[in-house]
Amino acid sequence: MSNNKLEGKVAVVTGGASGIGKATASLFADHGARMVVIADIQDELGQQVAASIGSQKCSYIHCDVTDEEQVRALVEWTVQNYGQIDIMFSNAGILCSKKGTSNSNQVVLDLDLEAFDHLFAVNVRGMAACVKHAARAMVDKRVRGSIICTASVTASFGGDKNTDYFMSKHAVLGLVKSASKQLGAHGIRVNSVSPFAVATPALCSQTRLEAEEAEKLYEPYTCLKGVVLKEKHVADAVLFLASQDSDLVTGHDMVVDAGFLGK
Ligand SMILES: NC(=O)c1ccc[n+]([C@@H]2O[C@H](COP(=O)([O-])OP(=O)(O)OC[C@H]3O[C@@H](n4cnc5c(N)ncnc54)[C@H](O)[C@@H]3O)[C@@H](O)[C@H]2O)c1
Repeated sequence: MSNNKLEGKVAVVTGGASGIGKATASLFADHGARMVVIADIQDELGQQVAASIGSQKCSYIHCDVTDEEQVRALVEWTVQNYGQIDIMFSNAGILCSKKGTSNSNQVVLDLDLEAFDHLFAVNVRGMAACVKHAARAMVDKRVRGSIICTASVTASFGGDKNTDYFMSKHAVLGLVKSASKQLGAHGIRVNSVSPFAVATPALCSQTRLEAEEAEKLYEPYTCLKGVVLKEKHVADAVLFLASQDSDLVTGHDMVVDAGFLGK
C-alpha cells in the first residue's frame, strides 16, 4: 500500500487540535501532504499538535468556524502561503453546546433554543462556511479538490435526546449532497465521513467517562467484535476520501461504525 497518497497536497483540517481532526492531520502529513493547516480555537493544543507533526509539514492557525470572516481569512492565508487548497477536512464540531454537560439532553419538549443556536452555529453554519470558502478557492485556482465533512451515524436516524446534535448532522448530509452536485462541474468532490462513538476528548467530556470506560459503554452496540473504534479508523476513511483512491466518489457518506447502523 502506498505511503504517499497525498504527495504535494495542501490540506486544511478544522478542529485539528484534538480527537478525529488531530489523528487525521497527522495521517495526512504521514502520507506526504506538502502542508497541513490545522484550524481550531484551542490555540495552545493546536500549536502543540502542529509542532509534534513538524513545522515543515504542519502549521496552526486560530479559526472559529462560527465566524465566516475567520473562515475566509483561514482560506486566504492558506492560499497566500501555500499556493492553493487541495483538501478541506471540515471536521470542527461539538457534541453539545455546554462543555461537560449533556445539555439537559435537548429533548423536543424541553428544547433550549439558545443552546440549539450555538450548536448549529458550529456544526452547520461553520461547516457550510468552510465548504463555501474552500470551494471558492479551489474553483479560483482550478484545483480538482476534495472536501470531506464530518457527519455522524446520528445523521441517519432519530434520537431520544440530543435533538439538536442529531438535526445538525442530518444537515451536514444535506450540505454534502447539495455541494457535491453543484461542484462536480468544477471537478471538486464532496463527501462525508460518519463515525459511531469514538472516545475523543469531546465524547469523554460529554459522558464524563475515561476513554476505556466510554469504549466499553458503546461496545455492545456494534456487530463487529474484536475491534475498538478509534480516531485512526476515521482518519483512514478520510484519507481514502481525500486521495485519488476515491477519484470517482462524490456525494457519498462513508460510515465508520463497526456495524452499528446495520445491527
Ligand atoms: N467522538 C465521537 O464519538 C464522534 C462521533 C461522530 C461524529 N463526531 C464528530 O467528529 C468531529 C470531531 O469531534 P471529536 O470527537 O474529535 O471532538 P474533539 O473535541 O476531540 O475535537 C473537535 C475539535 O473541534 C474544535 N472546535 C470546536 N468548536 C470549534 C469552532 N467553533 N471553531 C473551530 N474549531 C472548533 C475543538 O476545539 C476541538 O479541537 C465533530 O464534528 C463531531 O461531531 C464525533
